[in-house]
Amino acid sequence: MTEVQEKVRDLSEKYGRRRENLLPILQGIVEKEHYLTSEAMIQVAKELDISAAEVYGTASFYSFLDTEQRGQYVIRVCKTISCDMKGKNSIIKAIEDVLKIKVGETTQSKMFTLLETNCLGWCHKAPAILINDEPYTNLTPAKIKAILGDYIRNAEGKQKIIGDIQYER
Ligand code: FES
Repeated sequence: MTEVQEKVRDLSEKYGRRRENLLPILQGIVEKEHYLTSEAMIQVAKELDISAAEVYGTASFYSFLDTEQRGQYVIRVCKTISCDMKGKNSIIKAIEDVLKIKVGETTQSKMFTLLETNCLGWCHKAPAILINDEPYTNLTPAKIKAILGDYIRNAEGKQKIIGDIQYER
C-alpha cells in the first residue's frame, strides 16, 4: 500500500466510508498533501465504493480542493465586487512584486501559490484574502507585504526560500 493509499484509508476510517463524507475526506487529503492527485482520488473512489468521475466532479466543483500541485501556502485573493472596489488589484500587485509570480503561479521554492477566488464572506472588511485557512482583512499593499514577510521569516528552510523572493521588512 502506498503512502497516499494509507492516508486515504486513515481518513476514510476517521470520517466513515459513506458518500456524504466525501468532502471532509477530500479536504483532509488537501490539508496533508496541498492538492489531490489522481492516485488519491481513485483511492477515495475505491474506499467509498463510488465512481472516480464522481470524486473528480466534486473536487473540480470546489475551488479549495486543488487538483494541481500547489505551494505550502496557498494565497487566495477575493476577486468579488466589494474587494474589487476596495483595491484587490493593488493587493495582487503587491503580492506579485514580493513573490515574483503571477496569479495562478507557484514560487520556485514551492512555498507560495497565488490564486484568485470568489467572495470569502469578509466583504465588510474588504479587501480580504486567505492564506491556507487563515483570513487577512482590511488589507493594504504595505500590510500584505508585512504579512508575507512574516511567513517567509517563519518558514522552515528560510535561506532557500529567500533566495528567490524579495520582501520588505
Ligand atoms: S467580496 Fe471579498 S470577501 Fe466578499
